[in-house]
Amino acid sequence: MAVPVIIDCDPGHDDVFAIWLAAGHPRIDLRAITTVGGNGRLEHTTYNARVVTGLAGIAGVPIAQGADSPLVRALEPAEWIHGSNALGGPELPEPTVDADPRPAVELIRDTLDAYAEPVTIVATGPLTNIALFVRAYPDRWPKVREIVWMGGSTGRGNVTPYAEFNSWSDPEAVVMVLDSGLRFTMVGLNVTHQALITPSVIERIAAVGNTTAAFGVELLRYFNNSYEIDQGMPEGPLHDPVAVALVAEPGLVETVHTRLDIELRGTETSGATSVDLIDKLKRPPNAHVAVGLDVDRFWDLMIEAITTLA
Ligand code: RIB
Ligand code: CA
Repeated sequence: MAVPVIIDCDPGHDDVFAIWLAAGHPRIDLRAITTVGGNGRLEHTTYNARVVTGLAGIAGVPIAQGADSPLVRALEPAEWIHGSNALGGPELPEPTVDADPRPAVELIRDTLDAYAEPVTIVATGPLTNIALFVRAYPDRWPKVREIVWMGGSTGRGNVTPYAEFNSWSDPEAVVMVLDSGLRFTMVGLNVTHQALITPSVIERIAAVGNTTAAFGVELLRYFNNSYEIDQGMPEGPLHDPVAVALVAEPGLVETVHTRLDIELRGTETSGATSVDLIDKLKRPPNAHVAVGLDVDRFWDLMIEAITTLA
């Protein structure tokens, strides 16, 4: 039985692979895509989502744009990784998919209303849209199966020493979503940094031989170059599809039920995700936090999904 999924994203190179994995995996029924300002400005992340769905032959999945900036902070797009249009590298073909006229929170609401069974929300950018949805439609909370978020880390950050980009961009949104009490799973850098884009991975994707794979290889090469310059990592981590893989194949990502808190006021640690893995603070657990990944199986899933696309 396929799991109904909404992806909220900020494409962004790795977000693209999250969309493709969700569209190409048989256990996932991708029902809607919403976009948020994050890696790039909203007009870019929305345009990019339209481009990469059409290019991959993904049809019938509405795309609606959401928040152009975080709840209270200013948006600082991650141009140092993703470029000025949030999808640097390949020349972008004209999108063949129009954006849905509804705002993101209304598309989320209507998608939940349209189906009997609860829907999983996979968020791979700042949680601004999800926080706005949670605040606007508490009567729909029972229709949310769980929220799986690529963000945060049990350890070091990537935009400051202790904060990961999605959390750092809108930490207030993370607090709002956590406070809802909806089932929440965090897939952080401590796990996604195991999903490294090695030469072998690039070769395997290139060998798929379709349009999606060829475009994807250009994206990966640009992403790796950005990571080498910015993070000293010649093989970049493909963060976002790991959150999708967790939904697609339970067991592929190991999680622990633990305590997650977000630093809002730290002068050096704002946006840091504080994960109390040893229950030192004796606070009630409020999140399922990823701590392990079957790396080989993850790449198998990713490549199998790309094979099913255009
Ligand atoms: O820190 C990595 C996360 O920030 C990924 O979701 C990437 O796409 C960026 O949004
Ligand atoms: Ca992202």
